Order: sequence, then structure tokens, then C-alpha cells
Amino acid sequence: MERTMRTPIIAGNWKLNKTISESVALTTALKTLVVDETDVEIIVAPPFTALAAVNDVIVNSNIHLAAQDVYSEDSGAFTGEVSAPMLKDVGCGYVIIGHSERRQYFGETNESVNQKAKAALAHDLKPIICVGEQLEEREAGRTEAVIEDHVTGGIVGLSDTELLSCVIAYEPVWAIGTGKTATPDQAQEVHNFIRGLLTKAYAVEVASQVCIQYGGSVKPENATELMSQPDVDGALVGGASLEAESFAQIVKMAISS
Ligand code: 13P
Repeated sequence: MERTMRTPIIAGNWKLNKTISESVALTTALKTLVVDETDVEIIVAPPFTALAAVNDVIVNSNIHLAAQDVYSEDSGAFTGEVSAPMLKDVGCGYVIIGHSERRQYFGETNESVNQKAKAALAHDLKPIICVGEQLEEREAGRTEAVIEDHVTGGIVGLSDTELLSCVIAYEPVWAIGTGKTATPDQAQEVHNFIRGLLTKAYAVEVASQVCIQYGGSVKPENATELMSQPDVDGALVGGASLEAESFAQIVKMAISS
């Protein structure tokens, strides 16, 4: 299936940055800069505290809202957690799940990623499931094994329809926040491998429609080259999403054909 079947997705993961007023200022500036952009799905993922305020800014615009995590239960005695119905209530359409920082610092596992993805899907939230190898794993020739483990573990038990609501984000851990980007060839190689894994588990018509984003030091300087690869369907942007200008430039570079 042609790449044109997949609308590119550019998402900004703000991580642990921005107060409410800073979030509103950033989103307001971004909204103006990308107002004419079509054929690209634009997403911002502010911290939980700023979701409601950012939603007020983007209502009726072409920008969509994501959270950076979700808990697998809907409600109950789980101090500190935020559930899928709560995220839906505040205006989210997407949620990032299994980011490498959550795997590394907060004990996220493939099993919890899968539970969270199912909870999100049950409430009509689209999961952005993050996968990626560490530097030692790449150097040991284990990239494909790690990616297979993350992808298959994250999507286990999902129906065709559920998979079609998921986005996969390939983020090599060694490229996150380091300024070291995967080369376009390295990215394409892993994206193609991920597409192959999906094709093994699902019909080709389903697997070929799933959007696979690249993340890891994406900047205006390298975004076009990365996204011109046939299986790179957009970007998950950290640092460069914290400034409206640089994020808007990346949005404008999204390649849909
Ligand atoms: P950087 O763009 O800052 O490398 O972060 C990438 C990332 O982790 C997005 O989720």
C-alpha cells in the first residue's frame, strides 16, 4: 500500500517542561504558525497539569491533544495516577505510552504498556506506543530482538480495529536528547522491520495503514531527510517541540506523498 494512505503525524512530547502559562503561550504561538497546515496530524503532549488549559487554546483548531502517560485502571485507590476516562474528559485524543524514559526510570514493562494501551483504546484514546533500543543493545547487534520484544509485547491481543487506532513511535534511546540522530537509512531499516512484524501478526491491509513515527533529536535540520523515508510517517519531537518556531517548521516538513 502506498505511503499516501498514511497521514503523517508530528507530535511534540514536552516531557517535564512548561507551567500552565508557558504551555498556553507556546500553544497560542504554534496555533498561528500551523493554521494552514493540512494533510498532517499535529499533536502536542503537555504535562498533565497543563492539559485543560492547552485544550482551551486548541479547541476547533488543527492541533490535537495527547497526554504523556495513562494508568491501566479507570478509577480506584491508585494515588497519583491518571486514567483514560480522565484524559478523554480533559480533551485528549492521544496518549503516549511506554516512552523509554518511563521504561528506564519508572519501571514500565511491555506488560504494563499493553495494559495501558488497552485501557486507552477502551476509552477511544489513540495510543502512541514507544519502542527503541539502547546503545549497548544496538552495539551488541540486538536492535531487532529488542524492537520485536517491545512491539509484539505492546500490541498483544489487539484486534485489527484496535491496531488501526495505534501509532508506533520508534525512538532509539541513544538518539533521545543527545543530538545524535539515527541516519535516515538506520531509521528506515527499523521502521521497515516494525512494518514486517505488524504484517506477520495482521493482514497486510491493516499493517500497512499503521503510522510509524521516528523520534530522537528530530530538528528542522534533519526532519525532511528522515521523513522522506518510505516507512517514516512523521516524528515524535522532544526538545525541538518546546519552541513554537522549530516545531512548526517540522510540521511543515511532514511529507505525505
Ligand atoms: P528529543 O527530540 O529531545 O531527542 O526527544 C525525543 C523524544 O524522546 C520524544 O518522545
